Amino acid sequence: MALLEIENLVVEFETASGPFRAVNGVSMKVHEGEVLAIVGESGSGKSVSMLAAMGLLPWTAKVTADKLTFNGRDLLGMPANERRKIIGKDIAMIFQEPVASLNPCFTVGFQIEEVLRVHMGLDKAARRKRAIELFQAVGIPDPAERLNSYPHQMSGGQCQRVMIAIAIACNPKLLIADEPTTALDVTIQKQILDLLMKLQADHGMGLIMITHNMGVVAETADRVVVQYKGRKMEEADVLTLFANPKSNYTRALLAALPDNATGDRLPTISELFVDDQVEGAAR
Ligand SMILES: Nc1ncnc2c1ncn2[C@@H]1O[C@H](COP(=O)(O)OP(=O)(O)O)[C@@H](O)[C@H]1O
Ligand SMILES: [Mg+2]
Repeated sequence: MALLEIENLVVEFETASGPFRAVNGVSMKVHEGEVLAIVGESGSGKSVSMLAAMGLLPWTAKVTADKLTFNGRDLLGMPANERRKIIGKDIAMIFQEPVASLNPCFTVGFQIEEVLRVHMGLDKAARRKRAIELFQAVGIPDPAERLNSYPHQMSGGQCQRVMIAIAIACNPKLLIADEPTTALDVTIQKQILDLLMKLQADHGMGLIMITHNMGVVAETADRVVVQYKGRKMEEADVLTLFANPKSNYTRALLAALPDNATGDRLPTISELFVDDQVEGAAR
């Protein structure tokens, strides 16, 4: 059975100029131990589809799906309090902006211990011990002292490690990483990707890696969903996608990789891709 199964997900926002469809009939599955990349340029509905699956969108979003299940359980139909027990515990998400996702008013130690208290019911001593273990696991030096730091006292890379530690604190079965390296320096990006892949392999988690970067896809994914303007353009295992991309949009994404581009300036996706086949795209 798939961990997360999504069929025909539609997300519409109520806006001043009428309803706006950010996700338009997306379907995908993620299995235990599998890395699924969702790739597509900014605005293609990658974050919104995952936030919808997690039930984390604001009330202005109308979410419908033919199927939205975690481990066979219907997420849309279950009561909110049931869903809250799953989200943050069995499904965890790392958000795009590490510094903004942490609360500036509390120490990072408090923030990770809070998750351990709420979801795992650990007492004070056990929480602290586990928090130190987790900081060690994500490569934060001097973990015991670091627990007393506030987010602004740490670098972006360190904050991202804290976010990852919080996300894996309750041993999630599925981890959703939303552009986990985009906000970081290039030198730190590789370290964070390597860390995520190591944790995924060690714990056999399902991992959804959201990215706009085909290089990240190549380094991490087993399977890839290509999304554009709220629709799934293509889905394939990673080798097939790179060797034999079916849609023009995927080809355009691949051509924008530095290795494949010729000349001094990288072509933009819109230069490479003529938006002629979105309506006919396979779902
Ligand atoms: N709360 C919201 N209200 C209205 N529109 C939104 C909201 N959140 C996201 N959107 C719109 O939905 C579209 C998809 O956004 P998003 O999923 O964040 O794209 P991606 O993650 O692929 O860059 C964008 O056009 C964005 O402006
Ligand atoms: Mg996004």
